[in-house]
Amino acid sequence: AAPRTVTPTGVDTGLPATSKSQQGEYLTTAQGLRLYDTDHSLKAGERGPTLLQDHHLREKIMHFDHERIPERVVHARGFGAHGVFVGYGTAAKVCRADFLGRGTETPVFVRFSTVVGSRGSADTVRDTRGFATKFYTREGTFDLVGNNIPVFFIQDGIKFPDIIHAAKPHPDREIPQAQSAHDTFWDFVSTHTEATHHVMWQMSDRAVPRSYRTMEGFGVHTFRLVNADGGTSLAKFHWKPKAGVHSLLWEEAQLINGVDPDFHRRDLADAIEAGAYPQYELGIQVFPDTQRQTFEGIDLLDPTKIVPEELAPVQPIGMLTLNRNTTNFFAETEQVAFHVGHLVPGIDVTDDPLLHARLFSYLDTQLTRLGGPNFHQIPINRPHAPVNDMLRDGFHQHAVHGGVAPYKPNTLDGGNPFTADLEHGAFVEVAQPVAKAAKVRRSPASFDDHFSQPRLFWKSLSPVEKEHTVRAFTFELGKCYEQAIKERQLRVLANVDAELCAQVAAGLGLPAPAPAVRPRKVQPSPALSQVGGTWPPD
Ligand code: HEM
Repeated sequence: AAPRTVTPTGVDTGLPATSKSQQGEYLTTAQGLRLYDTDHSLKAGERGPTLLQDHHLREKIMHFDHERIPERVVHARGFGAHGVFVGYGTAAKVCRADFLGRGTETPVFVRFSTVVGSRGSADTVRDTRGFATKFYTREGTFDLVGNNIPVFFIQDGIKFPDIIHAAKPHPDREIPQAQSAHDTFWDFVSTHTEATHHVMWQMSDRAVPRSYRTMEGFGVHTFRLVNADGGTSLAKFHWKPKAGVHSLLWEEAQLINGVDPDFHRRDLADAIEAGAYPQYELGIQVFPDTQRQTFEGIDLLDPTKIVPEELAPVQPIGMLTLNRNTTNFFAETEQVAFHVGHLVPGIDVTDDPLLHARLFSYLDTQLTRLGGPNFHQIPINRPHAPVNDMLRDGFHQHAVHGGVAPYKPNTLDGGNPFTADLEHGAFVEVAQPVAKAAKVRRSPASFDDHFSQPRLFWKSLSPVEKEHTVRAFTFELGKCYEQAIKERQLRVLANVDAELCAQVAAGLGLPAPAPAVRPRKVQPSPALSQVGGTWPPD
């Protein structure tokens, strides 16, 4: 049989293979009509006017006019690569997902990103990085949509539009670095002390990675794992780069932004092209699935908290190797659609309120970003497992569905029984007795400790890392116009650590305040004292 075109994700399109993505020897219109000239429009005489009947002109310009799709509302600037994930089989006791099986190879697509900048922004800015992985498993697609920082700014997804509005460029001038994106960002985080832990990481060297190859990744939320017997555990996902964790100096980052704004893209693509394939080991921290959903006093549903690795070591479960660059940035990196709800049997969500807002948000935004409900048919988004859904029609439908009307049970369609395996546990275990709970709009008191983990993070830094962090706070807060915001953020820092606060205050030429922000009565995690953290701060 003649060779056929296979998409970058390995999907056979059934079309004849050509050296380019299009077929045939001659240039044609979109209707396949051979062209003899695409350089001159049809005119009434050499000096015009141009004739409306020139369909080729209208088609060519119309298509060009619509080449751009909306950039992502966040994580707009990104870079992707293909690879393979190989399971170690070590997760079997806690997770029945097929792709984690020993030696099982699963194709993957990874997209790294910055959060705040637009599609054309520079790579080496101080920002959180996205680390989103699509596993095309035999059981369907699993997406691990994480970041390179293990905690998040907010505890409840309802505040996501607010933090993003505060961080994006100011509406009047669309200038990120001038009045008043710095003011709005620092205004938000100084009035929402739950952001303090994330801000500490963001002012540290972690927020200026040297390369995508030298970044950790985190699933952030706690997930629920289900094993073959239906037993459940809670878990956090970690990616650890084989090349180690390395950052840029702030001065380097600023210079590189000017000299080569595509620094991280180039670095990743060049490494893959040279055969120096980046590798990341996937690991899990595992906790008992108790009614309280805490571990050593740390609330596992609070996405502003980590569980220190000293208390729950990261156990390796597989290896990711990025070994192939994209063929077409738009088709792959731009059109890929990740979703935290893309789960496989053995992995389920917990009741983390940030995660629940995400479950709604990604599908919703992709509906407009990718032009309608059929974006799962775009080659990069197609599962590598057979698809036999009852979804029909809609904008940009590419499948030609045969058979009778899709509904179940259906005595006329001659088959497609449900799998006997449907009750795999992952989707039936969720239940807390929510139906009887009172409706409330507030967080549990266990979400109120906003300072002991930021303090723990500060104490974990080496002297040079501390110096970088102080300089980052001083630089970024120094860009604020509003004195009151700087003073409020200093009061937040005073609750984290007196030395940190004093050094930043000195850098800003302001007096260092005493701790002022007091949360509701909170019992700190007893376990934190084991790893050096204490509450309340001195
Ligand atoms: C995109 C991570 C919280 C809404 C992304 C991407 C990543 C990410 C990595 C880029 C995906 C890509 O490369 O295409 C995270 C993490 C979060 C978080 C780790 C917290 C732990 C949220 C929340 C919301 C949200 C709370 C909304 C309630 C979005 C949206 C996009 C996005 C709308 C754009 C998706 C698209 O257009 O395809 N996020 N995010 N994220 N995130 Fe989040």
